[in-house]
Amino acid sequence: MPVTQTSFLPFHRALIEDDDVESVVQVLRSGWLTTGAQAKRFESEFARFVGASNAIAVSSCTAALHLALAAIRLREDDEVILPTMTFSSTGQVVLYCNARPVLVDCEPDSFQLDPAAVERAITPRTRAIIAVHFAGNPADLDPLLDIARRHNLTLVEDAAHALPAGYKGRRIGAIGDITCFSFYATKTLTTGEGGMVATESPELADRVRILSLHGISKNAYTRYSATGTWRYEILEVGYKYNMTDMQAALGLTQLAKCDLMREKREHIAKRYTEALSALDAYETPRVTPDTQHAWHLYVIKVRPGRLTISRDALIEELKQRGIGTSVHFIPLHTHPYYRQNLGYRIGQFPNAERHFEAAISLPLFPGMTEEETDRVIETLRDLAAEHRR
Ligand SMILES: Cc1ncc(COP(=O)(O)O)c(C=O)c1O
Repeated sequence: MPVTQTSFLPFHRALIEDDDVESVVQVLRSGWLTTGAQAKRFESEFARFVGASNAIAVSSCTAALHLALAAIRLREDDEVILPTMTFSSTGQVVLYCNARPVLVDCEPDSFQLDPAAVERAITPRTRAIIAVHFAGNPADLDPLLDIARRHNLTLVEDAAHALPAGYKGRRIGAIGDITCFSFYATKTLTTGEGGMVATESPELADRVRILSLHGISKNAYTRYSATGTWRYEILEVGYKYNMTDMQAALGLTQLAKCDLMREKREHIAKRYTEALSALDAYETPRVTPDTQHAWHLYVIKVRPGRLTISRDALIEELKQRGIGTSVHFIPLHTHPYYRQNLGYRIGQFPNAERHFEAAISLPLFPGMTEEETDRVIETLRDLAAEHRR
């Protein structure tokens, strides 16, 4: 069947409804566009939602992660342990601080970082661990917290995928030392671009707030408001990482339906698991026990030796049949920058490489219809039958 624009099922489609549009339009009409009352409200409602004491709205999760490391005063030659199975940002922010990203492998049977590998990677220079909640499935935080406490390290959570998610009855955002969320266009809550830092520490929250806006003592909103004053002090070298009120207004309406959107994604994920686990060509995702999965991503693995075509060819066939997919992630250590500048080599983290070579992320978004879900399942079923070894 030739794929027309309308029959192509994209990997992701943001759920933007009338209330989201209205909320942004109100800000546009208000005369105040950048960080202001909406951003403050989004911070307090977000903090309440995840159960955190402090939340600071920023321009991206990358910014949030950078601020987290800057807030703990990460310095040149310090080391930060993070999984190789992650997006560019998680490692990049360590390099922004001229520190060293120390990569570790995944668990053999999941995409989550391996706590035992984290412990082995600790040196006297280690300052922090960044745990990534891959796909929205929380990493096993108890052993990581234990390691962090025993070695006096900061546990930063890269929760770009994990809203809303839970670990042993608590929401992600209220567990580690600093948690960073993403509101990028494809994420479970979107503000187009955006992010949030959540922390229980008032000191870290203060530093993140100051560093997020030029290192100055007052934000622009306070400066220009009726009660504000023009005078400010530069306290340190900060960044321009603030969130606009236009983004925050969208964040507020999205937050109100965040749990509902998760339920819709979970329904699709359950349908995928039910249908695909019956086919021996694919392995369905493993979920960490006693967690609430955000279901940002649904990542299947093509079982080795079951099909006559490669994972890449399967992705191409899905595309030809009108189904958009993605791959999460190309392990950091396999990228030229990491090999050429940091001495990593292919073959170094076999679990991550094996997972990567087999992985396909299927379409999963709250506005996806039952028919669209059926189409993905049937196409995967057809392809497994057509290319059976
Ligand atoms: C695991 C992970 N961390 C961080 C980020 C960066 O998020 P942002 O685009 O909001 O900077 C992403 C983005 O996809 C991600 O997948």
